[in-house]
Amino acid sequence: MSTKTIHVTASRDYDVLIGSGLMNDTGKLVKEVHEPCKVAIVSDSNVAPLYMKTVRESLEAEGFETVQFVFPAGESSKTLDVMGAVLNFCASKRLTRTDLFVALGGGVTGDLTGFAAASFLRGIDYIQMPTSLLAAVDSSVGGKTAVDIPAGKNLVGAFKQPLRVICDIDAFETLPDVVFHDGCAECIKYGVLESPRLLEVFSEGTEAVKANITEVVAESVQIKANYVANDEFDTGVRRYLNLGHTIGHAIERSAKYRLMHGHCVAIGMVMISRAGEALGITEAGTTEKLIAICEKNSLPVSCDFSTKTLLDGALSDKKRMGGNIALIIPERLGKCMTHTVPVEELEHIIELGKETSV
Ligand code: GLY
Repeated sequence: MSTKTIHVTASRDYDVLIGSGLMNDTGKLVKEVHEPCKVAIVSDSNVAPLYMKTVRESLEAEGFETVQFVFPAGESSKTLDVMGAVLNFCASKRLTRTDLFVALGGGVTGDLTGFAAASFLRGIDYIQMPTSLLAAVDSSVGGKTAVDIPAGKNLVGAFKQPLRVICDIDAFETLPDVVFHDGCAECIKYGVLESPRLLEVFSEGTEAVKANITEVVAESVQIKANYVANDEFDTGVRRYLNLGHTIGHAIERSAKYRLMHGHCVAIGMVMISRAGEALGITEAGTTEKLIAICEKNSLPVSCDFSTKTLLDGALSDKKRMGGNIALIIPERLGKCMTHTVPVEELEHIIELGKETSV
């Protein structure tokens, strides 16, 4: 199957390459955008045993010198401490500004390494190599990098676009089902935003998604790239990518991050669609169709948290603007709108989104 290339236009343009077997060609693909140098490959304890050797050998075969930093897998590693350890390691290995970081892994690895790249020597180039579907269609594209602090997730970070994104779809074969489904939620989000065609694939279920994975990732990345091109620094239309996220983040917080991000976004999309129907914004029947698509891909569509608990979580959303919050609400599947409400109305909207309110 041929490789697809999506071009991202931003303060620095770059390509996202999506295809099978790309990891074996890492060295060649990196050499197309950067001359041989020292490369720090950053990965976690789940991904490194699977792919580090392939990536390292491919880079070295093309004349790159490599060093590797592996941290314990999991969100609990996305901290200033681990980032500091990456920076110390790279300084001790004498990387310079003309050297390179490679983020090999899922969202935690990409966000952490990207932020380390934004900070090291005041900024060096980095390559994203997402190995999860979620990272491939969301965090590896668009230049948002971050770590978590005790006050909240992703509260410290920088915009730093990668030099290239190399997405080897073969890596998804080793993902546990629940992790693959987690990524499906973000793709469904792109479908609800503007791609009925993408939703058709997801309506057929996960086997159809897997059979068309290159196209699914490429379509998702293209949609994200369009938002990034129009609003790289997230002051306007990029907030459409927040569909399902205000309530989704509230669920994540309420569950003390024991529920996965995509799963929470799926519930958040369903709830905001149901609230939209009740408010007369969303075409009747949209929520039912969305629930069917999520369930076909083993995603949850409801949660047991009280309105009060969810409200507390939603009020700490970093997308709040003073006393208002911009909600993204589907008008129908494939078209959404911004609905800015005073935060006092959020409780009512969450209540309308609950299953019991239909
Ligand atoms: N994950 C949403 C964004 O990149 O804006």
